Amino acid sequence: MHLDSRAIGFGALLGAALAAPPPPDPEPFEIVELPLPPVAPTDAVGACTAEVNPNGTGCIRRDMTSQEFQGGDFTPDGNHVVANVEFVGAPADPDPLSIYTGEQLILVKADGTTFPNGDPWKCLSCGVPAENALSIDPQRDYPHVLRSGDKALWGHNILDCGGVDLTSDECTPNRTHIYPIHWPIAADGSGSGGAPRELRLHPDDVHMGWSSFTADGGQNCFFGRLEFNANPATGVPLVPRYDLVDVNVLRSPNGEPHLVTDGTEIRINEDAISVGELRGWSGAGDEILYIGSPLEANNIDLLAVHVITGAIRRLTSHPEYVDPASFSRDNKWFVAMDTRGTDRQMWMSGMRWIPPLIDIVSVSVAASTRNNGVRRFFQPILIDRDGDRDEYFGQQINGEGDGSNGSVNDPNWNGRADPAFSPDSTKIVYWQALVVSPACGGSNPLPCPVSTAQGGREYRLMLARRISRQPKAPASVFDIPDYIPWATPFPPGASLPETYSLEPGQYTLQGKISGVASVNLTADTQGLGGIGAVSVAYSNYSDRQGYILNGHEEVSREILLPNPWNNRVEWYSDIVQTGVVSGTKKTGPGGFQLEIDVMTNIFSATGTLTTTLDGVVYEQPANGT
Ligand SMILES: *[C@@H]1O[C@H](CO)[C@@H](O)[C@H](O)[C@H]1NC(C)=O
Ligand SMILES: *[C@@H]1O[C@H](CO)[C@@H](O)[C@H](O)[C@H]1NC(C)=O
Ligand SMILES: *[C@@H]1O[C@H](CO)[C@@H](O)[C@H](O)[C@H]1NC(C)=O
Ligand SMILES: *[C@@H]1O[C@H](CO)[C@@H](O)[C@H](O)[C@H]1NC(C)=O
Ligand SMILES: *[C@@H]1O[C@H](CO)[C@@H](O)[C@H](O)[C@H]1NC(C)=O
Repeated sequence: MHLDSRAIGFGALLGAALAAPPPPDPEPFEIVELPLPPVAPTDAVGACTAEVNPNGTGCIRRDMTSQEFQGGDFTPDGNHVVANVEFVGAPADPDPLSIYTGEQLILVKADGTTFPNGDPWKCLSCGVPAENALSIDPQRDYPHVLRSGDKALWGHNILDCGGVDLTSDECTPNRTHIYPIHWPIAADGSGSGGAPRELRLHPDDVHMGWSSFTADGGQNCFFGRLEFNANPATGVPLVPRYDLVDVNVLRSPNGEPHLVTDGTEIRINEDAISVGELRGWSGAGDEILYIGSPLEANNIDLLAVHVITGAIRRLTSHPEYVDPASFSRDNKWFVAMDTRGTDRQMWMSGMRWIPPLIDIVSVSVAASTRNNGVRRFFQPILIDRDGDRDEYFGQQINGEGDGSNGSVNDPNWNGRADPAFSPDSTKIVYWQALVVSPACGGSNPLPCPVSTAQGGREYRLMLARRISRQPKAPASVFDIPDYIPWATPFPPGASLPETYSLEPGQYTLQGKISGVASVNLTADTQGLGGIGAVSVAYSNYSDRQGYILNGHEEVSREILLPNPWNNRVEWYSDIVQTGVVSGTKKTGPGGFQLEIDVMTNIFSATGTLTTTLDGVVYEQPANGT
């Protein structure tokens, strides 16, 4: 089926504009920290003594050096939350308590009660017999409870309690199996398969979405189906496993790219399906959530695409950076981890309605300056299903408090991936990590805070109750086909569809309301192909009523090979905005040079880039901060 994406997109946009209800009023939350196993004083063998945990059920790591802790989502009863923890300090084998070691999947009580042994948590994966957990995958991130309640997605594994609810006392280690997930990509099914990352299970418990890096600093997103393979004949590992089959690459063979040239004209195709990083599913599973190509310069947003029609919805538009997100099961809300409110990105992204042209070369740096190393600047933001619009930018869930050390709105506690809603949509769980050296202390003007969490723990799992809301039934789960009409089948042995590449040249972009932008695209000079520099001159340019741009902006990019993720940009901006906002976006004398690695996110710049909006000045962070 060939769908005319322009027609559908236009209809959807029009529909959204007509149908979007007025934004909701802010709502109250009651926020508590959820219990976790006690912290071990050190990670030395035996440090988890009976004094630290009298019940002998293990101790966890205090710090985040291994970056292994991860909070997940709720069990079907809404009273438990799954988490990946790192147990440390266990006594050596054959002590029976030696099972409380390494990365393990636990359930945490979210209703203030305890399990029969008195602990408010229980380990699901500790002590599972080796024969029940053959060749399990070391990747244990993004824990997620299946809606069936008897299984969990645990990184690249499925933990299965054989038909018994994970919360049940009958879900014992002996009953539990853990199976690795395998993605066959070779035509003959051989080898260890593809390298999926950030697996997100569809609400039907069967279909999966994921992302996967390319070798040259890019990423593709995929959709497939989990199929149990009790006795595989090929591929590694040759053990009972789940295979990802009927795989689609989430790229449209017939669809137009995000930027399109036609002779000397260049056009932004707002209906293009550009799934840059897959973030999950709508509550009903009828839409895929993703981070897409920017629709405004340097502004990274969350979008949703309908799995059948390919219709796009832009869910966020705030100039700050958004990343992890999760929908409520009633399909009426989503919670996003976003830097909005921190002014982390405003110096480069604050000026609204600049078309996404320099992004051809600057998108990687714009997606990297959001963090300082492992420090995120995220907080959880609740937004209704229609997303940011006009003056509505959602509500920070933990926005109220006294701001004291360890309070729910202490800005030194930063949101991490993923937040989640309870099945009845009345509760939200999220987790945070404390800023630690080198993102504080030393030459950094931010002193390192002292953790107020139990045992000095540097991460915490938080529960927000939406106290004004009544429980809502989940939306019925969308019956998703194995093959998405607008995507491209990607069977084992297939190669990726070719990417559309822009041709160097001089182009004109017409403003939707007024004016024109002249655009020069210059070929990359590193032999990488594609565009290496973008220069734009705006003259009375307006895409949005009341926002008029004049001036010039020019960015060139170098990839600092051999690391394909390390970018260096040379940047010159001198843009004046008039109308609703009086603003400037300007580099200092000598321009602005930024070097940043997408994987490590350490800010290192010379020169300045500053955005000023109605007299408010937004400056770039200092190097290393
Ligand atoms: C051990 O269990 C008891 C109840 O049997 C409970 O009160 C206590 O909090 C538990 N200990 C720890 C360290 O969680
Ligand atoms: C679990 O199974 C093993 C044999 O695989 C047995 O020795 C052990 O007693 C069982 N443990 C429990 C708690 O049932
Ligand atoms: C809060 O933490 C800071 C370090 O981030 C410390 O200097 C200050 O004394 C603490 N305040 C209180 C009241 O403990
Ligand atoms: C594009 O290149 C032409 C030819 O070098 C130059 O005259 C023009 O000013 C450039 N435009 C922009 C926006 O840089
Ligand atoms: C600039 O655009 C506005 C509409 O946004 C229009 O009213 C005005 O006449 C234009 N000015 C020039 C100099 O083109």
